Amino acid sequence: MRTQVGIVGAGPAGLMLSHLLHLQGIESVVVESRSRAYVEQRVRAGVLEQGSVDLLCRTGLGERLRREGMRHEGIELRFDGESHRVPMTELTGRAITVYGQQEVVKDLIAARLAAGGTILFDTEAVRLSDLDSAPVVHLRRDGRDEELHCDIVAGCDGFHGISRGAVPEGVLRTYERTYPFAWLGVLAAAPPAVDELIYANHERGFALHSLRSPQISRLYLQVAPDEDIADWPDERIWAELRARLETVPGWSLNEGPILEKGITPMRSFVVEPMQWQRLFLAGDAVHIVPPTGAKGMNLALADVALLGEALAAWYGEGRTDLLESYSETALRRVWRAQHFSWWMTSMLHRLAADDPYEARLQSATLRYVTTSRAYATSLAENYVGLPWQDLA
Ligand code: FAD
Ligand code: DHB
Repeated sequence: MRTQVGIVGAGPAGLMLSHLLHLQGIESVVVESRSRAYVEQRVRAGVLEQGSVDLLCRTGLGERLRREGMRHEGIELRFDGESHRVPMTELTGRAITVYGQQEVVKDLIAARLAAGGTILFDTEAVRLSDLDSAPVVHLRRDGRDEELHCDIVAGCDGFHGISRGAVPEGVLRTYERTYPFAWLGVLAAAPPAVDELIYANHERGFALHSLRSPQISRLYLQVAPDEDIADWPDERIWAELRARLETVPGWSLNEGPILEKGITPMRSFVVEPMQWQRLFLAGDAVHIVPPTGAKGMNLALADVALLGEALAAWYGEGRTDLLESYSETALRRVWRAQHFSWWMTSMLHRLAADDPYEARLQSATLRYVTTSRAYATSLAENYVGLPWQDLA
Protein backbone atom coordinates (compact mmCIF):
# COMPACT_ATOMS: atom_id res chain seq x y z
CA MET A 1 0.00 0.00 0.00
CA ARG A 2 1.23 3.53 -0.74
CA THR A 3 0.18 6.99 0.42
CA GLN A 4 1.71 10.45 0.78
CA VAL A 5 1.60 10.71 4.61
CA GLY A 6 1.46 7.60 6.80
CA ILE A 7 -0.15 8.48 10.14
CA VAL A 8 0.29 6.19 13.13
CA GLY A 9 -2.53 6.54 15.69
CA ALA A 10 -6.20 7.60 15.44
CA GLY A 11 -6.34 9.87 18.49
CA PRO A 12 -7.10 13.58 18.19
CA ALA A 13 -3.63 14.27 16.70
CA GLY A 14 -3.61 11.62 13.96
CA LEU A 15 -7.23 12.10 12.92
CA MET A 16 -7.01 15.89 12.82
CA LEU A 17 -3.81 15.74 10.78
CA SER A 18 -5.48 13.42 8.27
CA HIS A 19 -8.45 15.81 8.06
CA LEU A 20 -6.24 18.90 7.58
CA LEU A 21 -4.18 17.18 4.89
CA HIS A 22 -7.33 16.12 3.05
CA LEU A 23 -8.49 19.77 2.99
CA GLN A 24 -5.17 20.59 1.29
CA GLY A 25 -5.54 17.78 -1.25
CA ILE A 26 -2.86 15.60 0.41
CA GLU A 27 -3.50 11.85 0.81
CA SER A 28 -2.93 10.00 4.04
CA VAL A 29 -3.62 6.63 5.64
CA VAL A 30 -4.27 6.42 9.40
CA VAL A 31 -3.20 3.22 11.16
CA GLU A 32 -4.86 2.43 14.52
CA SER A 33 -4.23 -0.65 16.65
CA ARG A 34 -7.62 -0.45 18.40
CA SER A 35 -11.14 -0.85 17.02
CA ARG A 36 -13.31 2.08 15.96
CA ALA A 37 -15.71 1.39 18.86
CA TYR A 38 -12.83 1.42 21.36
CA VAL A 39 -11.41 4.79 20.31
CA GLU A 40 -14.88 6.32 20.11
CA GLN A 41 -15.76 5.21 23.66
CA ARG A 42 -12.47 5.97 25.41
CA VAL A 43 -13.24 8.61 28.07
CA ARG A 44 -10.43 11.12 28.47
CA ALA A 45 -10.10 14.89 28.37
CA GLY A 46 -13.00 17.31 28.15
CA VAL A 47 -11.82 20.89 27.82
CA LEU A 48 -11.21 22.61 24.49
CA GLU A 49 -9.28 25.86 24.35
CA GLN A 50 -10.63 28.65 22.20
CA GLY A 51 -7.96 27.92 19.56
CA SER A 52 -9.02 24.25 19.36
CA VAL A 53 -12.68 25.24 18.97
CA ASP A 54 -11.71 27.72 16.26
CA LEU A 55 -9.70 25.04 14.43
CA LEU A 56 -12.57 22.54 14.55
CA CYS A 57 -15.12 25.14 13.39
CA ARG A 58 -12.99 26.59 10.61
CA THR A 59 -12.33 23.12 9.17
CA GLY A 60 -16.01 22.14 9.00
CA LEU A 61 -16.23 20.17 12.26
CA GLY A 62 -18.19 22.69 14.30
CA GLU A 63 -21.78 21.62 13.80
CA ARG A 64 -22.27 19.24 16.75
CA LEU A 65 -19.64 21.07 18.80
CA ARG A 66 -21.63 24.34 18.53
CA ARG A 67 -24.83 22.50 19.47
CA GLU A 68 -23.61 20.25 22.29
CA GLY A 69 -20.40 21.92 23.50
CA MET A 70 -20.78 23.98 26.66
CA ARG A 71 -19.03 27.34 26.61
CA HIS A 72 -17.61 28.30 30.01
CA GLU A 73 -16.49 31.81 30.87
CA GLY A 74 -14.95 31.10 34.27
CA ILE A 75 -13.68 28.45 36.67
CA GLU A 76 -13.99 28.18 40.42
CA LEU A 77 -11.08 27.66 42.79
CA ARG A 78 -12.16 26.19 46.14
CA PHE A 79 -9.76 26.21 49.11
CA ASP A 80 -9.69 26.95 52.86
CA GLY A 81 -13.51 26.65 52.99
CA GLU A 82 -13.97 29.42 50.41
CA SER A 83 -14.96 29.60 46.77
CA HIS A 84 -13.46 32.07 44.30
CA ARG A 85 -14.33 32.54 40.64
CA VAL A 86 -11.67 33.29 38.02
CA PRO A 87 -13.60 35.22 35.35
CA MET A 88 -11.63 34.00 32.35
CA THR A 89 -13.60 35.70 29.62
CA GLU A 90 -13.75 39.03 31.45
CA LEU A 91 -9.96 38.86 31.85
CA THR A 92 -9.00 37.57 28.41
CA GLY A 93 -11.93 37.91 26.01
CA ARG A 94 -11.74 34.16 25.36
CA ALA A 95 -13.50 31.09 26.76
CA ILE A 96 -13.21 27.31 26.95
CA THR A 97 -15.71 24.75 25.68
CA VAL A 98 -16.50 21.52 27.48
CA TYR A 99 -16.83 18.78 24.85
CA GLY A 100 -15.54 15.27 25.46
CA GLN A 101 -12.43 14.08 23.64
CA GLN A 102 -14.32 11.04 22.38
CA GLU A 103 -16.86 13.38 20.76
CA VAL A 104 -14.03 15.15 18.92
CA VAL A 105 -12.73 11.73 17.86
CA LYS A 106 -16.21 10.63 16.65
CA ASP A 107 -16.64 13.84 14.63
CA LEU A 108 -13.20 13.45 13.05
CA ILE A 109 -13.73 9.79 12.15
CA ALA A 110 -17.13 10.58 10.62
CA ALA A 111 -15.64 13.42 8.56
CA ARG A 112 -12.72 11.33 7.30
CA LEU A 113 -14.91 8.39 6.31
CA ALA A 114 -17.51 10.66 4.65
CA ALA A 115 -14.69 12.15 2.55
CA GLY A 116 -13.51 8.67 1.49
CA GLY A 117 -10.48 8.72 3.80
CA THR A 118 -8.70 5.55 4.90
CA ILE A 119 -8.46 4.65 8.60
CA LEU A 120 -7.15 1.13 9.19
CA PHE A 121 -8.61 0.11 12.57
CA ASP A 122 -7.44 -3.06 14.37
CA THR A 123 -4.10 -2.60 12.61
CA GLU A 124 -0.92 -2.30 14.59
CA ALA A 125 2.15 -0.42 13.39
CA VAL A 126 4.92 -2.73 14.57
CA ARG A 127 7.95 -0.93 13.17
CA LEU A 128 9.05 2.05 11.08
CA SER A 129 11.92 1.76 8.63
CA ASP A 130 13.79 3.77 5.95
CA LEU A 131 12.89 7.06 7.63
CA ASP A 132 15.90 8.77 6.00
CA SER A 133 14.82 7.95 2.45
CA ALA A 134 11.50 6.25 1.55
CA PRO A 135 9.68 5.52 4.82
CA VAL A 136 7.81 2.28 5.45
CA VAL A 137 5.28 1.63 8.22
CA HIS A 138 5.27 -2.12 8.91
CA LEU A 139 1.77 -3.26 9.81
CA ARG A 140 0.17 -6.28 11.37
CA ARG A 141 -3.47 -6.79 10.37
CA ASP A 142 -5.69 -9.89 10.63
CA GLY A 143 -2.61 -11.92 11.53
CA ARG A 144 -0.80 -10.81 8.33
CA ASP A 145 2.18 -8.50 7.79
CA GLU A 146 1.73 -5.57 5.42
CA GLU A 147 3.71 -2.49 4.43
CA LEU A 148 2.58 1.09 4.07
CA HIS A 149 4.98 3.10 1.90
CA CYS A 150 4.92 6.88 2.23
CA ASP A 151 6.84 10.16 1.81
CA ILE A 152 6.46 11.18 5.45
CA VAL A 153 5.48 9.39 8.67
CA ALA A 154 3.50 11.25 11.34
CA GLY A 155 3.97 9.55 14.71
CA CYS A 156 0.71 10.35 16.52
CA ASP A 157 0.57 7.12 18.50
CA GLY A 158 0.52 8.44 22.05
CA PHE A 159 2.89 7.87 24.95
CA HIS A 160 2.98 4.06 24.56
CA GLY A 161 3.33 4.07 20.77
CA ILE A 162 6.25 2.85 18.69
CA SER A 163 7.12 5.98 16.67
CA ARG A 164 9.31 7.72 19.19
CA GLY A 165 11.36 4.53 19.58
CA ALA A 166 12.15 4.49 15.85
CA VAL A 167 14.57 7.41 16.28
CA PRO A 168 18.17 6.19 16.71
CA GLU A 169 19.60 6.30 20.18
CA GLY A 170 21.37 9.52 21.10
CA VAL A 171 19.25 11.80 18.91
CA LEU A 172 16.42 12.57 21.32
CA ARG A 173 16.68 14.23 24.69
CA THR A 174 14.04 13.52 27.34
CA TYR A 175 12.85 15.95 30.03
CA GLU A 176 10.70 14.40 32.70
CA ARG A 177 8.92 14.75 36.10
CA THR A 178 6.82 12.18 37.83
CA TYR A 179 4.40 13.06 40.61
CA PRO A 180 3.70 11.10 43.81
CA PHE A 181 -0.01 10.81 42.97
CA ALA A 182 -2.52 9.83 40.28
CA TRP A 183 -6.08 10.82 39.33
CA LEU A 184 -9.10 8.62 39.84
CA GLY A 185 -11.67 9.77 37.27
CA VAL A 186 -15.38 8.90 37.20
CA LEU A 187 -18.22 9.53 34.82
CA ALA A 188 -21.54 9.61 36.69
CA ALA A 189 -25.20 9.79 35.70
CA ALA A 190 -25.75 12.75 38.02
CA PRO A 191 -26.75 16.29 37.04
CA PRO A 192 -23.66 18.46 37.67
CA ALA A 193 -24.08 20.63 40.76
CA VAL A 194 -22.04 23.30 38.98
CA ASP A 195 -22.27 25.68 36.03
CA GLU A 196 -18.50 26.02 35.87
CA LEU A 197 -15.63 23.65 36.72
CA ILE A 198 -14.50 23.52 40.35
CA TYR A 199 -10.82 22.90 41.13
CA ALA A 200 -10.51 22.14 44.86
CA ASN A 201 -7.41 22.17 47.03
CA HIS A 202 -8.15 20.15 50.19
CA GLU A 203 -6.00 18.67 52.94
CA ARG A 204 -7.25 15.19 51.90
CA GLY A 205 -6.06 15.90 48.34
CA PHE A 206 -7.17 17.57 45.11
CA ALA A 207 -10.67 17.16 43.64
CA LEU A 208 -12.16 18.40 40.36
CA HIS A 209 -15.82 18.69 39.44
CA SER A 210 -16.38 18.81 35.68
CA LEU A 211 -19.25 17.74 33.47
CA ARG A 212 -20.19 16.33 30.10
CA SER A 213 -23.86 17.32 29.79
CA PRO A 214 -26.73 18.61 31.96
CA GLN A 215 -27.21 14.96 33.07
CA ILE A 216 -23.62 13.68 33.27
CA SER A 217 -20.91 14.72 35.75
CA ARG A 218 -17.19 14.09 35.32
CA LEU A 219 -15.27 14.03 38.61
CA TYR A 220 -11.66 13.46 39.60
CA LEU A 221 -9.86 12.71 42.88
CA GLN A 222 -6.16 12.79 43.70
CA VAL A 223 -5.15 9.29 44.85
CA ALA A 224 -1.89 7.43 45.54
CA PRO A 225 0.00 6.45 42.36
CA ASP A 226 -0.24 2.73 43.11
CA GLU A 227 -3.92 2.83 44.04
CA ASP A 228 -6.01 -0.16 42.90
CA ILE A 229 -9.40 0.80 41.45
CA ALA A 230 -10.82 -2.35 43.04
CA ASP A 231 -10.34 -0.65 46.41
CA TRP A 232 -12.66 2.19 45.34
CA PRO A 233 -16.27 1.03 45.47
CA ASP A 234 -18.72 3.73 44.40
CA GLU A 235 -19.69 4.69 47.97
CA ARG A 236 -16.05 5.35 48.89
CA ILE A 237 -15.64 7.57 45.82
CA TRP A 238 -18.73 9.64 46.69
CA ALA A 239 -17.69 9.94 50.34
CA GLU A 240 -14.26 11.23 49.33
CA LEU A 241 -15.72 13.64 46.75
CA ARG A 242 -18.12 14.97 49.40
CA ALA A 243 -15.30 15.43 51.90
CA ARG A 244 -13.16 17.40 49.45
CA LEU A 245 -15.83 19.38 47.59
CA GLU A 246 -18.58 20.08 50.14
CA THR A 247 -16.48 22.65 51.97
CA VAL A 248 -18.50 25.81 51.40
CA PRO A 249 -21.82 26.52 53.11
CA GLY A 250 -24.94 25.62 51.16
CA TRP A 251 -23.23 23.63 48.38
CA SER A 252 -23.73 19.90 47.93
CA LEU A 253 -22.80 17.33 45.34
CA ASN A 254 -25.41 15.53 43.21
CA GLU A 255 -24.83 11.78 43.23
CA GLY A 256 -25.91 9.09 40.79
CA PRO A 257 -24.81 5.78 39.28
CA ILE A 258 -21.12 5.67 38.30
CA LEU A 259 -20.88 4.73 34.62
CA GLU A 260 -17.12 4.50 34.27
CA LYS A 261 -14.07 4.80 36.51
CA GLY A 262 -10.31 4.58 36.05
CA ILE A 263 -6.95 5.69 37.40
CA THR A 264 -4.53 7.81 35.33
CA PRO A 265 -0.88 8.30 36.31
CA MET A 266 0.51 11.83 36.32
CA ARG A 267 3.64 12.82 34.53
CA SER A 268 5.35 15.67 32.76
CA PHE A 269 7.39 14.54 29.78
CA VAL A 270 8.94 16.17 26.71
CA VAL A 271 11.17 14.70 24.04
CA GLU A 272 13.22 16.98 21.80
CA PRO A 273 13.37 17.42 18.88
CA MET A 274 9.94 16.45 17.58
CA GLN A 275 11.35 15.38 14.22
CA TRP A 276 13.98 13.06 12.81
CA GLN A 277 14.50 12.79 9.05
CA ARG A 278 11.08 12.02 7.56
CA LEU A 279 9.42 11.19 10.89
CA PHE A 280 7.39 13.96 12.56
CA LEU A 281 6.09 13.34 16.08
CA ALA A 282 2.97 15.00 17.51
CA GLY A 283 0.76 14.93 20.61
CA ASP A 284 1.26 12.49 23.49
CA ALA A 285 3.89 10.61 21.44
CA VAL A 286 6.34 13.42 22.32
CA HIS A 287 4.92 15.25 25.31
CA ILE A 288 2.70 14.54 28.30
CA VAL A 289 1.32 17.03 30.80
CA PRO A 290 -0.41 16.31 34.10
CA PRO A 291 -4.13 16.90 33.37
CA THR A 292 -4.65 19.74 35.89
CA GLY A 293 -4.29 22.43 33.23
CA ALA A 294 -6.53 20.55 30.71
CA LYS A 295 -3.88 20.91 28.03
CA GLY A 296 -3.21 17.38 26.63
CA MET A 297 -5.72 17.23 23.79
CA ASN A 298 -5.26 20.92 22.99
CA LEU A 299 -1.51 20.50 22.54
CA ALA A 300 -2.09 17.50 20.28
CA LEU A 301 -4.37 19.59 18.05
CA ALA A 302 -1.99 22.57 18.06
CA ASP A 303 0.95 20.34 16.98
CA VAL A 304 -0.87 18.95 13.97
CA ALA A 305 -2.27 22.34 12.93
CA LEU A 306 1.37 23.40 12.58
CA LEU A 307 2.46 20.16 10.93
CA GLY A 308 -0.47 20.25 8.48
CA GLU A 309 0.51 23.75 7.39
CA ALA A 310 4.15 22.74 7.00
CA LEU A 311 3.25 19.71 4.87
CA ALA A 312 0.91 21.80 2.72
CA ALA A 313 3.75 24.28 2.04
CA TRP A 314 6.08 21.38 1.15
CA TYR A 315 3.69 19.53 -1.15
CA GLY A 316 2.17 22.68 -2.63
CA GLU A 317 5.20 24.95 -3.12
CA GLY A 318 8.20 22.75 -2.44
CA ARG A 319 8.99 24.81 0.68
CA THR A 320 11.01 23.05 3.37
CA ASP A 321 11.28 25.94 5.87
CA LEU A 322 8.12 25.15 7.83
CA LEU A 323 8.95 21.45 8.09
CA GLU A 324 12.45 22.36 9.27
CA SER A 325 11.12 24.74 11.94
CA TYR A 326 8.20 22.48 13.02
CA SER A 327 9.89 21.12 16.13
CA GLU A 328 11.27 24.45 17.35
CA THR A 329 7.96 26.26 16.80
CA ALA A 330 5.81 23.54 18.38
CA LEU A 331 8.11 23.26 21.40
CA ARG A 332 7.51 26.90 22.37
CA ARG A 333 3.83 26.14 22.93
CA VAL A 334 4.64 22.75 24.48
CA TRP A 335 6.92 24.30 27.10
CA ARG A 336 4.42 27.06 27.94
CA ALA A 337 1.83 24.33 28.58
CA GLN A 338 4.38 22.25 30.49
CA HIS A 339 5.00 25.13 32.88
CA PHE A 340 1.31 25.96 33.29
CA SER A 341 0.32 22.33 33.91
CA TRP A 342 3.13 21.85 36.43
CA TRP A 343 2.18 25.12 38.16
CA MET A 344 -1.54 24.27 38.40
CA THR A 345 -0.65 20.77 39.64
CA SER A 346 1.72 22.11 42.30
CA MET A 347 -0.79 24.71 43.50
CA LEU A 348 -3.73 22.34 43.84
CA HIS A 349 -2.47 18.90 44.96
CA ARG A 350 -1.33 17.65 48.31
CA LEU A 351 2.32 17.20 47.47
CA ALA A 352 3.65 15.46 50.55
CA ALA A 353 1.95 13.83 53.52
CA ASP A 354 3.23 16.17 56.19
CA ASP A 355 4.46 19.44 54.84
CA PRO A 356 2.69 22.36 56.52
CA TYR A 357 5.06 24.84 54.88
CA GLU A 358 4.02 23.64 51.42
CA ALA A 359 0.33 23.86 52.39
CA ARG A 360 0.78 27.49 53.52
CA LEU A 361 2.54 28.35 50.24
CA GLN A 362 -0.37 26.84 48.31
CA SER A 363 -2.89 28.91 50.28
CA ALA A 364 -0.81 32.03 49.68
CA THR A 365 -0.66 31.32 45.94
CA LEU A 366 -4.39 30.58 45.73
CA ARG A 367 -5.24 33.71 47.69
CA TYR A 368 -3.00 35.81 45.43
CA VAL A 369 -4.38 34.32 42.20
CA THR A 370 -7.95 35.00 43.38
CA THR A 371 -7.32 38.58 44.50
CA SER A 372 -4.75 39.98 42.07
CA ARG A 373 -6.15 40.80 38.64
CA ALA A 374 -2.65 40.47 37.16
CA TYR A 375 -2.09 36.96 38.54
CA ALA A 376 -5.64 35.84 37.71
CA THR A 377 -5.13 37.08 34.14
CA SER A 378 -1.99 34.96 33.88
CA LEU A 379 -3.92 31.85 34.97
CA ALA A 380 -6.83 32.71 32.68
CA GLU A 381 -4.81 33.37 29.53
CA ASN A 382 -2.97 30.07 29.90
CA TYR A 383 -6.16 28.15 30.69
CA VAL A 384 -8.14 29.45 27.71
CA GLY A 385 -4.98 29.03 25.64
CA LEU A 386 -2.68 31.73 24.36
CA PRO A 387 -3.55 32.75 20.81
CA TRP A 388 -1.80 30.35 18.46
CA GLN A 389 0.10 33.05 16.58
CA ASP A 390 1.61 34.44 19.83
CA LEU A 391 3.55 31.23 20.32
CA ALA A 392 4.39 30.56 16.68
P1 FAD B 1 -3.85 9.43 21.84
O1 FAD B 1 -5.20 9.99 22.05
O2 FAD B 1 -3.23 8.62 22.91
O3 FAD B 1 -3.90 8.61 20.50
C1 FAD B 1 -2.88 7.72 20.11
C2 FAD B 1 -3.49 6.58 19.33
O4 FAD B 1 -2.47 5.75 18.82
C3 FAD B 1 -4.37 5.69 20.19
O5 FAD B 1 -5.65 5.56 19.62
C4 FAD B 1 -3.62 4.36 20.23
O6 FAD B 1 -4.49 3.25 20.30
C5 FAD B 1 -2.85 4.41 18.92
N1 FAD B 1 -1.64 3.59 18.88
C6 FAD B 1 -0.70 3.44 19.86
N2 FAD B 1 0.27 2.62 19.45
C7 FAD B 1 -0.05 2.23 18.19
C8 FAD B 1 0.56 1.38 17.24
N3 FAD B 1 1.73 0.75 17.51
N4 FAD B 1 -0.04 1.18 16.05
C9 FAD B 1 -1.22 1.81 15.76
N5 FAD B 1 -1.84 2.63 16.64
C10 FAD B 1 -1.27 2.84 17.82
N6 FAD B 1 -5.93 15.25 29.16
C11 FAD B 1 -6.62 16.24 29.72
O7 FAD B 1 -6.39 17.39 29.35
N7 FAD B 1 -7.56 15.95 30.69
C12 FAD B 1 -7.84 14.67 31.09
O8 FAD B 1 -8.69 14.45 31.93
C13 FAD B 1 -7.14 13.62 30.52
N8 FAD B 1 -7.36 12.34 30.89
C14 FAD B 1 -6.63 11.34 30.31
C15 FAD B 1 -6.81 10.01 30.71
C16 FAD B 1 -6.04 8.98 30.16
C17 FAD B 1 -6.26 7.54 30.60
C18 FAD B 1 -5.03 9.30 29.21
C19 FAD B 1 -4.15 8.22 28.63
C20 FAD B 1 -4.87 10.63 28.80
C21 FAD B 1 -5.64 11.66 29.35
N9 FAD B 1 -5.48 12.99 28.96
C22 FAD B 1 -6.18 13.97 29.54
C23 FAD B 1 -4.58 13.39 27.92
C24 FAD B 1 -5.27 13.51 26.57
O9 FAD B 1 -6.32 12.61 26.49
C25 FAD B 1 -4.19 13.28 25.53
O10 FAD B 1 -3.29 14.36 25.62
C26 FAD B 1 -4.70 13.13 24.09
O11 FAD B 1 -5.38 11.92 23.94
C27 FAD B 1 -3.51 13.16 23.12
O12 FAD B 1 -3.93 12.83 21.83
P2 FAD B 1 -2.99 12.04 20.86
O13 FAD B 1 -3.74 11.94 19.58
O14 FAD B 1 -1.63 12.62 20.86
O15 FAD B 1 -2.80 10.59 21.53
C1 DHB C 1 -11.52 17.76 32.57
C2 DHB C 1 -10.27 17.23 32.61
C3 DHB C 1 -9.22 17.99 33.06
O1 DHB C 1 -7.98 17.50 33.09
C4 DHB C 1 -9.42 19.30 33.49
O2 DHB C 1 -8.37 20.02 33.95
C5 DHB C 1 -10.68 19.82 33.44
C6 DHB C 1 -11.74 19.05 32.99
C7 DHB C 1 -12.64 16.91 32.09
O3 DHB C 1 -12.41 15.75 31.77
O4 DHB C 1 -13.76 17.42 32.01
